Amino acid sequence: MQNPATETNEKFGYFDDENYEYVITTPYTPTPWINYLGNDGFYGLISNTAGGYCFYRDPKFRRLTRYRYNNVPVDNGGRYFYLKCDEQYWSATGLPVDTQLDEYSCRHGMGYSRFNASKNGIASEVTSFIPLDTKAEVHSLKLTNNTSETKTVDVFSFIEWCLWNAEDDGANFQRNLSTGEVEVAGSTIFHKTEYRERRNHYSFYSVNREVAGFETDRETFLGPYRGFDRPVAVESGVTKNSLARGWSPIASHHLKVELAPGESQSLVFVLGYCEVEPENKWSGLNVINKAPAEALSSRFDTDEKVAAELKKLNDYWFNLLSKFTVESPDDKFNRAVNIWNQYQNMVTFNLSRSASFYESGIGRGMGFRDSNQDTIGFAHMVPEKVKERILDLSATQKTDGSAYHQYQPLTKKGNANIGGNFNDDPMWMVLSTANYIKETGDFSILDEVVPFDSDLDNTATHFEHLNRAFNHVVNNLGPHGLPLIGRADWNDCLNLNCFSEDPNESYQTTQRGASDIAESVMIAGQFVLYGQEFVDLCKKIGKDELAASCLQHVELMRETVKQHAWDGAWFIRAYNAKGEKIGSNENTEGKIFIESQGFCAMAGIGLDDGKALQAMNSVEEHLSTDFGIMLNQPAYTSYDKYIGEITSYPPGYKENAGIFCHNNPWITISEAMLGRGEKAYEYYSKITPAFLQDVQDLHKTEPYVYSQMIAGADAEHPGEAKNSWLTGTAAWNYYAATQYILGIKPTYEGLSIDPCILPAWDNVKINREFRGARYEITLRNPQGISKGAISLTVDGQEIVGNVIDPIAYSGSHKIVATLSK
Ligand code: GLC
Ligand code: GLC
Repeated sequence: MQNPATETNEKFGYFDDENYEYVITTPYTPTPWINYLGNDGFYGLISNTAGGYCFYRDPKFRRLTRYRYNNVPVDNGGRYFYLKCDEQYWSATGLPVDTQLDEYSCRHGMGYSRFNASKNGIASEVTSFIPLDTKAEVHSLKLTNNTSETKTVDVFSFIEWCLWNAEDDGANFQRNLSTGEVEVAGSTIFHKTEYRERRNHYSFYSVNREVAGFETDRETFLGPYRGFDRPVAVESGVTKNSLARGWSPIASHHLKVELAPGESQSLVFVLGYCEVEPENKWSGLNVINKAPAEALSSRFDTDEKVAAELKKLNDYWFNLLSKFTVESPDDKFNRAVNIWNQYQNMVTFNLSRSASFYESGIGRGMGFRDSNQDTIGFAHMVPEKVKERILDLSATQKTDGSAYHQYQPLTKKGNANIGGNFNDDPMWMVLSTANYIKETGDFSILDEVVPFDSDLDNTATHFEHLNRAFNHVVNNLGPHGLPLIGRADWNDCLNLNCFSEDPNESYQTTQRGASDIAESVMIAGQFVLYGQEFVDLCKKIGKDELAASCLQHVELMRETVKQHAWDGAWFIRAYNAKGEKIGSNENTEGKIFIESQGFCAMAGIGLDDGKALQAMNSVEEHLSTDFGIMLNQPAYTSYDKYIGEITSYPPGYKENAGIFCHNNPWITISEAMLGRGEKAYEYYSKITPAFLQDVQDLHKTEPYVYSQMIAGADAEHPGEAKNSWLTGTAAWNYYAATQYILGIKPTYEGLSIDPCILPAWDNVKINREFRGARYEITLRNPQGISKGAISLTVDGQEIVGNVIDPIAYSGSHKIVATLSK
């Protein structure tokens, strides 16, 4: 097998920065390495062997195709293309047929994936994408005969229908083995399970050419007791035109493609979703109205149309990613900031924590805290969507300022099963809102009228929602004057009020602790940081009185932290329900935690008296490893019901002393605020995937996106990552890299420039679109320092201060920023 990666000494693949692609050179990556397709409601997850599934808006209730999580072999179910020629068959995407290919590669690009394979002189290229504003996956398959003889290739497509509700699909077999229904018309296979009843939607799989046959019944296609690796239809070359009734409906087209020597031909497959008005559902007795499907598939019935749609998608991404670009002396940094980190940010915008290869898509909706934090990663790319997202979140806030922990994307309603009472939730909305306004200058978001708890009869301005969020903290203080933690704060697993002894109950949804005195120092830091942000916002819109009274609460909290949460060399983490310290030198395990160090330092607590610096030194001494910064140390070694789920994890994993990447940038930012550029960069690069090429075997997950967790020092394999893609790590690292390392920070007044870089970086170029203008910024560092005073010229003219006032400029401008001691 040809492996171009050997040149670059990379075992599984390499970056192709020019094309914004990662090229995977073997089907056998340590875990499936996936990509996301889709931008606007219709999404697909696709691995390097085409495994995965697609869904419309809600991965639980509107899942089109079946995928088997936790199966053997892994990565089971996808959009497969079986090719057969001269009695041998293989997979155009590397698997599920295990036939060794002569060539294989998978290029994951921005919103598309391309699979190249070749076997015995027959080359194939599958390009998979979801066009803009389209509820369909398009898979174009190009075949080329590189032999000197005419060849006939039998092509078999394959997908398996999910019976819509993904949870029911994997559990309620007594019903669902009897409900499956399909129709076939020409070259289109329609999936209409439950369409006879309450569903006004169906899906279809079409190909733009006459078929030689088809199958829609899984067992007929596979043959009894066979897997996807050797379907009997493919092996025998015979299709029986089966019509599925119940059992497991699938869609497989059989085509015969005759190719002269040197000839190429292509086929376009469309896997689409249609909604139909209830009165137009049928075109005859039990015959579905196919017009919407025909209209959809006809948009892609020629190669030219497909190419034009792909071009539109490429332009869309190019445009989005060009709003911020950097050219630093470090290619890895550039690649992360310019391409993959921004791309991952958009995926977290679309999916929150709902559907990945680790999130089954049936559990969680959109998280309140997660979604608010995520917006700091893409406010510069899709500001209008950020506004809508923030207002959706705001509408799930309750009148007392608390928030539902999650909401469902389909209804946008707060999820009552999970409820609220995670007391860090409310203040994240101050972060997202302030960041949005600083990016756009659009204060009108504050005046939008938004319901509480989705109740249209109970509304207030979004500003008032923020005010309630602020007061929710003020109204829920504990015995030391620190914020009550509620069910948990940012750390979902620090459950100080739960006391669970019942293995059947969820840590996330139970709460005991009538006394409710447990307090969080992380929320205290968060309140000082975003409380100050709220004060600034009030001042900005002329609410000076409110600003003054809020400031008193903020200042009081700052003092309270110093008085009750300083442990001598770091900030404690919490007080438990018995009033004892957590995260203190007095404890034997869990003596120090990362979250309170990061949040107190970012809030500026102890910047004046050395506490912040000391806390950072303690982080380095106790928590830092080669693979990132651990969440706590020492790890908890046994279950303690007064501390909660965190102690349920074996040492070194997840929240129990794992490297929980989301919080590492809080330290990067704190170091940058302290002016320690080398430390900031070190922490940034330790967890940033572009820097981890050499440890891919160990790291295991995709080398182009952040993972939620990397195993800590106590684990069996420190450095091994899990839970890639959907993590707040993406937004926070982007924020740290752009606003704190590069120091390009939107403020109410304009774009401020205040970097904290490696002393060795003498020259950095940045392109930044900001409020309608485009700035080409050259950062000069002649004295080789990290942080210092900034002098600015705009188009050759010196200006005072380090903020570019957007009112003064539109169009394109050249900025030179010079750093000096
Ligand atoms: C997960 C959750 C997030 C939480 C974090 C730490 O990433 O999505 O809300 O803050 O875990 O527990
Ligand atoms: C578990 C995970 C945590 C996540 C939470 C909510 O507790 O450890 O990371 O935030 O579940 O789903």
